[in-house]
Amino acid sequence: MMVARGSASNVSAGGRAYPIVDHTFDVVVVGAGGSGLRAVVGCAEAGLNVACVTKVFPTRSHTVAAQGGIAAALGNMGPDNWKWHMYDTVKGSDWLGDQDAIEYMCRNAPPAVYELEHWGVPFSRTSEGTIYQRPFGGMTTDFGKGPPAQRTCAAADRTGHAMLHTMYGQALKLNTKFFVEFFAIDLIMGHDGACRGVVCLKIDDGTIHRFRAALTVLATGGYGRAYLSATSAHTCTGDGNAMVLRAGLPLQDMEFVQFHPTGIYGAGCLITEGARGEGGYLTNSEGERFMERYAPSVKDLAPRDMVSRAITVEIREGRGVGKNQDHAYLHLEHLDPQILHERLPGISESAKIFAGVDVTRQPIPILPTVHYNMGGIPTNFHGEALRKRDGNPDEVTPGLMALGEAACVSVHGANRLGSNSLIDLVVFGRAAGLRAAELIKPNDTQPELPSDSADLALSRLDFFRNANGGTSTATLRDRMQRTMQSHCAVYRTGEVLAEGVELINAVWRDGADVKIADRSLIWNSDLIETLEYDNLIVQAVTTMESAANRTESRGAHAREDFPNRDDKNWMKHTLATIDRDKKTSSIDYRPVHSYTMTNEVAYIEPKARVY
Ligand code: FUM
Repeated sequence: MMVARGSASNVSAGGRAYPIVDHTFDVVVVGAGGSGLRAVVGCAEAGLNVACVTKVFPTRSHTVAAQGGIAAALGNMGPDNWKWHMYDTVKGSDWLGDQDAIEYMCRNAPPAVYELEHWGVPFSRTSEGTIYQRPFGGMTTDFGKGPPAQRTCAAADRTGHAMLHTMYGQALKLNTKFFVEFFAIDLIMGHDGACRGVVCLKIDDGTIHRFRAALTVLATGGYGRAYLSATSAHTCTGDGNAMVLRAGLPLQDMEFVQFHPTGIYGAGCLITEGARGEGGYLTNSEGERFMERYAPSVKDLAPRDMVSRAITVEIREGRGVGKNQDHAYLHLEHLDPQILHERLPGISESAKIFAGVDVTRQPIPILPTVHYNMGGIPTNFHGEALRKRDGNPDEVTPGLMALGEAACVSVHGANRLGSNSLIDLVVFGRAAGLRAAELIKPNDTQPELPSDSADLALSRLDFFRNANGGTSTATLRDRMQRTMQSHCAVYRTGEVLAEGVELINAVWRDGADVKIADRSLIWNSDLIETLEYDNLIVQAVTTMESAANRTESRGAHAREDFPNRDDKNWMKHTLATIDRDKKTSSIDYRPVHSYTMTNEVAYIEPKARVY
């Protein structure tokens, strides 16, 4: 195995010297979830000298929490076709997805799943021994005209867990170099606008590590923790997205935040959509299966944005369940206990622990909970990060890629279909490895880094480490999370969003007064949480600003004051950037790709999104 050249030096910030350890790799992947690991494997297979930097141990990455499955038109349970999958994904995205990228994902999904199977992912099986597939919301047959598709390949309700462990094994087999519990602080941007690597803090000893790389791949996940109640782990702070904003690059479509219909009431933990795929259903206080009114053909298997809105309306109109009539019920007690045991063991346990419910006898109290960010770093379907320059909305930022939930390819558009996230991770993780092999010659000489390459990272680190204001990080984080929860929710209005813009910008400004208590550099969780908060707040601001700006309803962005989709004015991606010194943000746009990747499929014309 080729390990990087390493050398040590001192760089000062705020009058203090920080020892720096230098590394050089062909590729540095930040993040060890599904997309990061798949990219690492691809780069290593191509003979590239690749490092994976991760703030948590790889198998603790948030992909481990993915439950219900991974979408691919294998056709194991009935007729299926990747073109039907593509149609469903375009419709699910409410026509904000880029159709060239959606074609790439859906046509490459079956081989990507078979590759996982051959690597050893322990998928559940049909009686014929093929991969078991369950129905998921918005997945249909025959271009939406047929019955629901059984397209979501599952390893019981622990699919992400199974995938992550298998992919980590593959990466280890290829002798990939992992830097575990390294917190990425900021990108190194060259004066030519190319990305040249990343500066990290080694959490256990406080040393600074500067990774020089021909290619930096951000696979850093979403930013669910900008909200108070989320299915996301506490580590989901969108660190890569924030690094991109600080590098002066845009984030795309940040207004589109997915609420999963079935978070456990009070706890927010995920109850997989696979529960409804296996026959579970929702009821209100009248015992009514209300989804029959909202989506007569697919009912409880409608896409997430629609089910979340339906639950919200039921509660608002006084048909919520419980003492405060503020949630709904998910029923599984009519299902065969053997099915629950074999296919839904994880959520049966979660329901017991977090809601005190025995799913064989009682319904689970649920409430829509923040689950996924459709927005993120704009990329093409090779994973290359995009910026808008000189009238070109699709210019590649040299040396930078983004994958997974950190990226906005955009395959999910305004609303992601359940189980399209896991397939996005592996299809585009693989694509990134293929592209890296085309772009980079193994162990090629790299130019010296600019003398100021660590300045941004170290000045921020030093500022927070010594911050001595009057407001704790916990106070700022709580204000941010409550503001996002109350002002940028399932339903939105101009008035509430305008107030949200004021409030969230005030929280951002008040960050200047932050105080941290621990000044050390050894396992300083106060410092790490502050860096994470600083990452979250800029994403919260761009989310609120983008939501206030988009005066239409599309997918997960439901404006009560603009209830209709407005293709004439709004079939375009939002681009949000920040000025971190002035603490302001601005908005621009990029066209949606209204073309496919090949002539094998035609562009799917927009129409009303009914199910
Ligand atoms: O409901 C779930 O199992 C979640 C799947 C997903 O977000 O794709």
